[in-house]
Amino acid sequence: MLTRFSWSSFFGHLRSVYYETLSFSNKLIKGHCKLWIFQPFNVLATGSLITFLLAMACASLYLFPKFQPVTNSYQIPNSSNSVGGCNVFEGRWIQDESYPLYNSSHCPFAEGGFNCLANGRKDRGYTKWRWKPKNCDIPRFNAREILEKLRGKRIAFVGDSLSRTQWESMICLLLTGVEDKKSVYEVNGNKITKRIRFLAVKFSSFNLRIDFYRSVFLVQPGPAPRRAPKRVKSTLKLDKLDDSSREWIDTDVLIFNSGHWWTRSKLFEMGCYFQLGGSLKLGMQTTAAFRAALDTWASWVETKINTNRTSIFFRTFESSHWSGRTRNSCKVTRRPSSDMKGRDRSPVSNVIIDVVKKMAAPVTVLHVTPMGAFRSDAHVGTWSDNPSVPDCSHWCLPGVPDTWNEVLFSYLLSENGTFLQRTPG
Ligand SMILES: *[C@@H]1O[C@H](CO)[C@@H](O)[C@H](O)[C@H]1NC(C)=O
Ligand SMILES: *[C@@H]1O[C@H](CO)[C@@H](O)[C@H](O)[C@H]1NC(C)=O
Ligand SMILES: *[C@@H]1O[C@H](CO)[C@@H](O)[C@H](O)[C@H]1NC(C)=O
Ligand SMILES: *[C@@H]1O[C@H](CO)[C@@H](O)[C@H](O)[C@H]1NC(C)=O
Repeated sequence: MLTRFSWSSFFGHLRSVYYETLSFSNKLIKGHCKLWIFQPFNVLATGSLITFLLAMACASLYLFPKFQPVTNSYQIPNSSNSVGGCNVFEGRWIQDESYPLYNSSHCPFAEGGFNCLANGRKDRGYTKWRWKPKNCDIPRFNAREILEKLRGKRIAFVGDSLSRTQWESMICLLLTGVEDKKSVYEVNGNKITKRIRFLAVKFSSFNLRIDFYRSVFLVQPGPAPRRAPKRVKSTLKLDKLDDSSREWIDTDVLIFNSGHWWTRSKLFEMGCYFQLGGSLKLGMQTTAAFRAALDTWASWVETKINTNRTSIFFRTFESSHWSGRTRNSCKVTRRPSSDMKGRDRSPVSNVIIDVVKKMAAPVTVLHVTPMGAFRSDAHVGTWSDNPSVPDCSHWCLPGVPDTWNEVLFSYLLSENGTFLQRTPG
């Protein structure tokens, strides 16, 4: 597949690094976790560096790998215009004055950094676009109806800050269908922060819980092995799913993402290297490592998840819009761009689609890369809690992540609501 950004070229200079496999005893030095600077996501492909998030602990990077659906075979729920199958991820944005679907200032679960209007953005046009798949429509969002269908369920998002954004969006969307806002609360009274590892919001009138697990790599971080070279400060165990995966099992819906952290700047430059079994893989490239991690995730899904109960989704790479020669410039436009400029493809998305395709367990790929590619108008830019660091990776809320949820809901409610009716008790 042709990709505008190629990992192999991006990491080309790494080729000079000889592939070194260092065996070491399994005894690990006492756990330490280095702080990592969270840098922009688009780095994946572009290497652009935008520091916008806080330093974070290596230990807090955990993810799990695995997915499954194939993009072109998606059947979208039967809606007004749909005739036969429909690839909901192929389409365009059309203006719709009935959007946005909520006001972030009325939603305590939308973090301040994503509330662009409250942070000074003046133009509101970017909130008034609806995604229109080519051959069908996404059902109109109806908070009350969805809340009823989700009664008694537990939903969990797992991944990086883009997962947190989708988690926030889902809660804000559903909150519009709740009269007593106080009946919706974070179970531990925690505040949403960039480094928090776990959040759980309960809609008590519906006995519905929506969780977020921060696990940016899905696999397990660990300390540097004893005999490792000095530059190795920590490792990512590609063959071991994040420890917090235990908590992901007993859920009705699981939505994963990963990708933005699989970059040189967030890994090697922070002293984090890959590990497979007892071996340190110093020369292993990021794409290969990402694939290995996703394979680990896939076998976890197949061995640990009862897919009769749990619906599993994996979101593909969320397009970022860094520009300029060094890809560190962030110019948020007023309108969506008509040209996707190759941003509709991503090596990360390709790996995700590929790994899921090979799985036996049913996993739905939420292929959001193309729809996001148009939305150069919808990033946080300088309307964040830290205007000095522009952000062309994260999205304003309300905004694009709401569409990810509208698509997700359409899957959950499709097939006559089979999914939702299947869960016993
Ligand atoms: C979708 O709707 C059309 C017309 O209402 C119907 O003929 C078709 O069988 C439906 N498809 C599915 C998958 O339910
Ligand atoms: C959102 O709510 C705030 C506070 O009530 C209000 O000032 C603002 O105008 C609202 N924004 C929109 C887009 O309606
Ligand atoms: C899932 O459902 C299928 C078909 O109803 C059944 O054969 C299978 O045993 C179920 N698996 C589990 C783990 O319950
Ligand atoms: C959908 O639900 C209706 C009414 O509950 C039922 O008659 C119909 O058979 C269902 N269709 C499928 C495909 O399950």
